[in-house]
Amino acid sequence: MHQPKGISRSLSAIGIMAALVGGACSSKSEVTKGGVGTSASLTDLMKARNLSEADVNAALKTYTPTGRMDEYLTFASGGHGGQVIVIGVPSMRILKYIAVFTPEPWQGYGFDDQTKAVLAGGKRFGKDLTWADTHHPALSEQGGDYDGKFLFIGDKANARIAVIDLSDFETKQIVTSELIGGDHGAAFVTPNTDYIVETTQYPVPFGSVYADPAKEFKDKFRGAAIFWRFDRTKGRIDPEASFAVEFPPYTQDLADAGKLTSDGYAFFNSINTELTWGGNQEGNPPMESGYSKNDMDYLHVVNWRKAEELVKAGKAETINGMKVIRLATAAAEGVLTFVPESKSPHGVDVTPDGEDIVVSGKLDTHGTVFSFAKIKAQIDAKKFETKDPYGVPVLSFKDSIRGQVELGLGPLHTQFDDKGNAYTSLFLETVVAKWSVKDLKVIDKMPTHYNIGHLVAAEGDTIHPDGKYLIAMNKWALDRFNKVGPLLPQNFQLADITQTKMQLLYDMPIPLGEPHYAQMIKVDKLKPIDVYTPGEDPMTGKRSVNAVEPNKERVERRPDGVHVYMTAIRSHFTPDIVRVKQGDTVHWHIDNLEQAYDATHGFAINSYNINISIEPGEHSDITFVADKAGVFPLYCTEFCSALHLEMAGYFLVEPKI
Ligand code: CUA
Repeated sequence: MHQPKGISRSLSAIGIMAALVGGACSSKSEVTKGGVGTSASLTDLMKARNLSEADVNAALKTYTPTGRMDEYLTFASGGHGGQVIVIGVPSMRILKYIAVFTPEPWQGYGFDDQTKAVLAGGKRFGKDLTWADTHHPALSEQGGDYDGKFLFIGDKANARIAVIDLSDFETKQIVTSELIGGDHGAAFVTPNTDYIVETTQYPVPFGSVYADPAKEFKDKFRGAAIFWRFDRTKGRIDPEASFAVEFPPYTQDLADAGKLTSDGYAFFNSINTELTWGGNQEGNPPMESGYSKNDMDYLHVVNWRKAEELVKAGKAETINGMKVIRLATAAAEGVLTFVPESKSPHGVDVTPDGEDIVVSGKLDTHGTVFSFAKIKAQIDAKKFETKDPYGVPVLSFKDSIRGQVELGLGPLHTQFDDKGNAYTSLFLETVVAKWSVKDLKVIDKMPTHYNIGHLVAAEGDTIHPDGKYLIAMNKWALDRFNKVGPLLPQNFQLADITQTKMQLLYDMPIPLGEPHYAQMIKVDKLKPIDVYTPGEDPMTGKRSVNAVEPNKERVERRPDGVHVYMTAIRSHFTPDIVRVKQGDTVHWHIDNLEQAYDATHGFAINSYNINISIEPGEHSDITFVADKAGVFPLYCTEFCSALHLEMAGYFLVEPKI
């Protein structure tokens, strides 16, 4: 009989034990030696390590022997670390931290000219930012499915979007708009990655210009959704071709793009139609109660194709360098429509068929399932129930929904599988609720440990979810790991979702920032390179004009300073002595001549804060002023060979007389 591969096969621990104990291994074979005893059968091992049959079953579904690869990669936000964490599934092995918004020494990110320029793209108002609150990673899509080419991620704190090229897993671009004061609904892609969506969280007056909320909140503070145009051939965002749609200051929250039948639309939650702005020492209620007074907030429905046409027709105004469709225009031209939604919702997630939009109540025990067809019919017929104070048309709640599902306490985010089921995280109840999208009925609940925020299923927000695996991204870990002081890691919990009942498989601590959201992609969609072509500048993808060839290494004095053309190959730098004069501007060009996979060299100069990583074939540039005279060792920081310690030299700065 054909046995499906992978975890869909129902594993019986007893069956496997019987096979192991009575079959291939003789009944008292030595499975291991060491910590649990010198001679142990599987049953002895289980006893010694206090493992149940369910534990062994879970272990067999995640254990990945040496040399074996994972079936999926998960790209998780690295939270305040400003990075992206790459995790193999089902092994839950961390494979990489991708440096994004913050300098990262291992990758030499933020030390050479190339990556300094990327980080400089994220300056706001001329200020360097050395942290981020990375939130939602978004894989590039083609026809609503991940294509494995690019990854985008938003920085909530500073309203920035980064572009990571998955050919080498490196950050290539950071963009920001000085229009808005932060984002939360970011990054989300439209189904063909025409646009990357970034939505305001906390409203500010556009450009962060001074205004007192006590007097001017309603009139001057604003939200916006920015549609960053992505140029796939260049692999970069094109700010010139991007635009924004102005929103009222309702504190927009999460976002999702329509797909298939709802393609061309995007959906945004909001949590503050009350227009409160704080002031708990100025006679106002605290923010959290001010935000929750109204029974309903507004789901924002944006027709982005229509918005694109308006921009082309010149109906946008340029504010702080961004083309903005003003609120009055958006309302009058059918770009922006509101649908009432249960108060202070959190997640908004479009179903794989694009027909429904699931909004989680957060303060409500329901998930509300809006029907795109019903929303569209009302918009087309201009059948509006009322207008909001800013003149935006409002549809009828009851004419817009397909139904509600009673989920439990604190519903947040929803993912989907390949069998028509949805999985919603319930923060307060600290469970994952599995429910039928068709029947709006809960099928199963799986406890999480503890306080789940986001969750991610395999390709679970595409038009073809895979099912199989789900990761609960839990905010609290409490009693799950050894104690490490008052600041605890987060807890990622892997679950098998192939059966009716979800099965918890594995706990993985994440001790880096607060990983917010993740996406999980089948590995066969990813085609990363092994090495760069000789002389390649990873930022341009082309051979650098300063690429250094073997036997052409040299030091040249020119009007703009001293140019060092250096090569690195096991196990020496050429030249290994570099002489300059105090005060010289130094332009250091360095190439790793290796073409062997994994033959990375590092390059560091003592006291000058110079530390880069040069992958095989890579060209890198470093520019600095040799302001401190003296003798400074330089050396390779990667253990590249048996003679790695000998891969060294001196940077000599002759004092000014
Ligand atoms: Cu090259 Cu160590």
